[in-house]
Formats: sequence, C-alpha cells, structure tokens
Amino acid sequence: MTKNVEKEIAALREKIRYHEHRYYVLDDPQISDFEFDKLMQRLRELEQKRPELVTRDSPTQRVGGAPAAELPKVRHSSPMISLDNTYSVDELRDFDRRVRELSGRDKVEYVAELKLDGLSMALTYEHGNFVRGVTRGDGTVGEDVTGNIRTIRSVPLRIEEKRLKAIDEPAKFEVRGEVMMTRKAFERANAQREAAGEPRFANPRNSAAGTIRQLDPRIVAERQLDMFVYYLQVNRAEPLREHSQVLETLSKIGFKVNPHWKRCPAFDDVLAYIQAWENKRESLDYEIDGIVIKVNNTALWAELGTTAKSPRWAVAFKYPARQATTRVNDIRAQVGRTGTLTPVADLEPVDVGGVTVSHATLHNMDEVERLGVKIGDTVLIQRAGEVIPQVVKVVKQAEDGREFVMPKKCPVCGEDVRRAEGEVAYRCVNSACPAILKESLRHWAGRRAMNIEGLGDVLVDQLVEKHLVRDVADLYSLTRQQLADLERMGEKSAQNVMDEIERSKQSELARVIFALGIRYVGERTAQLLANHFGALDKIAKATPEELMEAEEVGARIAEAIQEFFQEKRNREVIEKLRKKGLQFEQAQTRKREGRLTGKQFVLTGTLPSLSRQDATDLIEAEGGRVIGSVSKKTDYVVVGADAGSKLDKARALGIAILDEAELKKLLAK
Ligand code: IVH
Repeated sequence: MTKNVEKEIAALREKIRYHEHRYYVLDDPQISDFEFDKLMQRLRELEQKRPELVTRDSPTQRVGGAPAAELPKVRHSSPMISLDNTYSVDELRDFDRRVRELSGRDKVEYVAELKLDGLSMALTYEHGNFVRGVTRGDGTVGEDVTGNIRTIRSVPLRIEEKRLKAIDEPAKFEVRGEVMMTRKAFERANAQREAAGEPRFANPRNSAAGTIRQLDPRIVAERQLDMFVYYLQVNRAEPLREHSQVLETLSKIGFKVNPHWKRCPAFDDVLAYIQAWENKRESLDYEIDGIVIKVNNTALWAELGTTAKSPRWAVAFKYPARQATTRVNDIRAQVGRTGTLTPVADLEPVDVGGVTVSHATLHNMDEVERLGVKIGDTVLIQRAGEVIPQVVKVVKQAEDGREFVMPKKCPVCGEDVRRAEGEVAYRCVNSACPAILKESLRHWAGRRAMNIEGLGDVLVDQLVEKHLVRDVADLYSLTRQQLADLERMGEKSAQNVMDEIERSKQSELARVIFALGIRYVGERTAQLLANHFGALDKIAKATPEELMEAEEVGARIAEAIQEFFQEKRNREVIEKLRKKGLQFEQAQTRKREGRLTGKQFVLTGTLPSLSRQDATDLIEAEGGRVIGSVSKKTDYVVVGADAGSKLDKARALGIAILDEAELKKLLAK
C-alpha cells in the first residue's frame, strides 16, 4: 500500500513536470487545463496524506515557505555585465569591423536574438536541482530571490540526469536570462494594483522588477512571470563551441529559450533580422527593446574579451522608441467599471509611429503629481504595443499651466467622489452610477465575456440613458420592440441583438464568472475557479480558505470574491440571471467526445467570420483540441488572413490545411 502511494506520487510528478514543460516552456500543451488541474489536485491530495513524502522539487512546492524578511545579498560567480547599445546601422557596421579586426578574420558568423525587455537573472543548479536565483544587482553582487524564481512555471525546478548528459552532467552549472512579464500579465497586475489602491506600474519591465523583489512568493506567483534563458556557464566557462549550440542545448535540457533567434552567417543577415523585427515586434505578447547580436563562435569570446562595462563579442541594437511630443489640451476624469476616476489627458493629435494619438492615460493622481503635468504643458508621450498611450514626462511647462484637480463630485452622476484610506484611486460612491453601469454592460457584452455582438458603446449608452437597463440581468428582459424603437436601430438589427442576447445564455460558466466583473478575477482566474468549483453557487458560498484551494487564488482574490458575493445588490442580480436561465454550472461536455476526438488543431491568421475563441469553442465542442504551435502531431492547421510562420511550418510538415469554410464542413460532417 505504502509503496503504491510512493509510486503514484513519483509517476504524477513526472507527468506533471512533462506537461508543465509542454505548456509553459514549449507553449504546446497536450492536455487541457482541466486535465492538468486534476493531476495537480491528485498529487496534492496524496502529499497531504503523506506529508513525509513531500520534496522540495515537487511541482506542488513552487509557492512555499513564509515570506522572506529580506533579500540576502549574493556575490555572482562571474560579473553580470551588460551590453553596449547602438542606435544606428553605421554603429553596428563599426561593431562588425572591430570584431573582424580584433579576431583577424574576414568574416564572422553571428547569432541575432530579440532583446527582451525584462531584468537579468542568474540561476544556479546543483545535481540537476534549482538551488538559487540571483538578480543582477550592481553586476558583482545581486539579491537572492530564489523563492520568487521558483514560482515561475517555465523555470524547471529539477532537470533529469539523462538530459544533463548534453552538458557532461556537471555537478553545478549556471544559466542566465531574462525574467519578464507578458503584456497580458502586466495589464492584469495593474488592474489588481489599481483596484487595491496601489500605484500602477509604468511598463511590464518595471512590473517584473517590482514583482521579483517582493518578499512574499505568493504575490509573485499570482503575477505570472516568465523567463527566457540565453546563457550557460559550467565551471565559469563556456561549455560549447557555438552560441547557437548553447541555445539549442538549453532548450533540450528543459529551459525556455526564446524561439526567434537566428544564425546569421553574413552581416547582411543581421541587418535583415533587425528590419524584419522592427514591425513584427508589436505582434509579440511581450515587449522587446531591440536586438542582441552575438558572435557565434564562443572561443572568440575569450579572445575578444570584455571592457569594464561590456563584452566586445556582443552588442545591442535599440529600436527608436515610438514617442512624440505634443500639447495637453485638457485633463479630465473618466469613470471606469469599478467606479474609479482615472485622469485622462486630451492631447493635440499627433502621429506616433503611424498612429494618430489624441488621448493618453495618466493612470491616477499619484502619477499626475509625479509627472507634475498641467493643462497646457508640452509632454513626451509614448506608445508600446496595444497599451493605451502614456505620458513619459513634461518637456516644457506652460507659463499659465492649469493644475488638474480631481472633481469632488462624479462627472457622470454628481454623487460624491472619495479616496479610501491608503488607496491611490478615487471612486464614485454611487454603485448605481450610470458610468459604472455602462462599463459593466460593456464588459459583460465583451468578446471574452458573454460575447454579445451588436451590443456596442452606442447601444449601451442608449439603454442606460433611457433607463431600459439598470443592471446586466435587465438585458435578458429587453423586448425586440424596445430595441427597435431606439435611434439607429432597425427591426433587423434589433432582432439580431435579441438573438445574440438569447445565445449568450448558453455561455459556459467560466465566461459568466469573468463577465460578472469581480475585482481581480480575470479570464484565467475565472476558468480556474470554474474548473475547481464547477458551479457558481459553490463559489458564492465558499470561505476564503476554500477559495484559496483553487489554483492561483491568493488571499486578496479570495477576499474580493467574498466581498462581491456579500454585496446584496450583486446577489440580487445573480438571482435575476438565474431566473433567466444562465449557465451557473460547468457544462458536462468536459469529456469532449465528438467527431473530432483526438484531433489536434492549430489556428493561425484572422478567419473571415469566426473569432479565435469561437473557432476554439466549436472545435472543442466536437472533442478536438486547439494548441499553440504546429508539430508533427498536429492534424489540421486552420488558416486565415495574414497567417504567419505556422502556415509555412504546416506546409513543410505536410499537415492538412483548412480555411474557415473547410473547417465548418468538417464540423458539420
Ligand atoms: S546577453 C554579457 N541576450 O539586456 C552579455 N542580454 O543591455 C549578457 N537582455 O543585461 C547579455 N535580452 O538583461 C543578452 N537576448 C539577450 C537579451 C539580453 C535582453 C538584457 C540583459 C542584459 C541587458 C544588456
């Protein structure tokens, strides 16, 4: 009996490690989140029964131990130097010339990589176990953040011996790389901070930096950091002849290596790489601030050496920032879904990297004060990815600049505006404020929530202003006539919206939970809650302790969920929704048996009528699985407009390629 438990635990750990690697490192999961959660749950159960069998490298132990009192200082095995930056192709040519001269060669092969905008970190492994993670610090001495690094799911806690053969099984080795935050995780972290009344992080890098120095690993775990590695040292030396081999090897032994690196046999290949990524970088779900070019032959690294500050065998090419200067015409307070008043700058329209920008967020009053920005000032603004443009700094103060003061009354409903003790955010106290209601309706109808097509801003405004809707549940009592009587609404569009609202009742539980707009509960948390509890009522009744048993739910999320369900008004809305027949239980189609059972799909490009989520839902409803990247195991690649490298790969591997119409045919067979 005892032996059996031990065996099951060992088998579960191996399985979970394998699937963590597929999911977090390769971005190519083989089982659903639901199935993965079940494995974790089983392992936790067994470990609870047999605590003496819990080991430090168990997948359940990523977040463990009490918060640290401080972060101890640690000396690096060799200095963590940074790179020289260049901003022009001419300077880059100088770099290549210097490398060739110093090495006495006509031609040098390079490797080009993305310059990930995070913070560098050194990880030490002993006998295959992760033992220490240290920040760069001043380059000589950094801070020990081991407990925090352990929470990063793409960082392996243990590497099997057989994999270490690739580097001669060293008793000890060090990898270095970049800890970062995806744009999505950054937005989520900021939403949480704002809701908690804390100042926002300015960008994903600051957010990652702030997170990694947290003393409580549980907070770090919630923030979902990621790490790409690009450097390997064994006994303080380079163990392989080429840097490209290092990247391949790191990947083979289980680390996450950014897949976009490229060998550049000629210097022109470097230039082509830089040019290709100039625009493509916006499509990444994390930020990069340039390209790193490294000499591929590692024997040359020692030969070329380093200056006091940086190596001579590598250089960073920085892309020009997407910035511009313009005048602040006005600053006003905008009321959001949670009732928060956000200061927004109205700008003199200006072109920033091909997009006309006329507004920028100032986030909160702390930020307004930090920037010292006044109406009339000239400011530097910047745009990064899809985030709302931001004000970087004031470049010229207006002589008669007018200070922005947070209004005492809500600009929408006229009720009081308050700032709770210790919070940064100002909020409208009126929970029935039309601005809050409008935002909740927009959120409810959103693509990732109940996905009610046709319920856009104009319609939401009218529904609220005409008092046709007082909460989200009222949407389900609307009549076609009420809609048809509104401005710019014909009989036909009224019917379409009615159909969409009706259809939304079938949305699965996770979407309903997300749509409710509970503070801190984003899409992912909603899915995890749905998987764990299986029913809305169970979540509503759960104690904070029970809530925290769900994956990735920490104390603050648990508290926010409880607060939400304690609010009488919210409970009333939920009762109304129940009466209208919404899905409050996890659909039992989880087994997912259908005509596509066992088939793997990859989606790429924009489909003409189906959104990504719609296509995924349709495929999953028939038992198929949608995964992130193409491999030999892929059965079908569904291709839309602007398909990228996945299509090339599918062709190369000879995988069946479908367009939307063909997919629909397959589903309807
Ligand atoms: S190599 C000795 N490769 O950029 C060379 N660095 O400005 C070590 N960075 O401190 C760095 N992406 O934090 C390297 N692909 C990449 C990188 C990268 C981002 C960061 C790293 C470094 C800084 C230098």
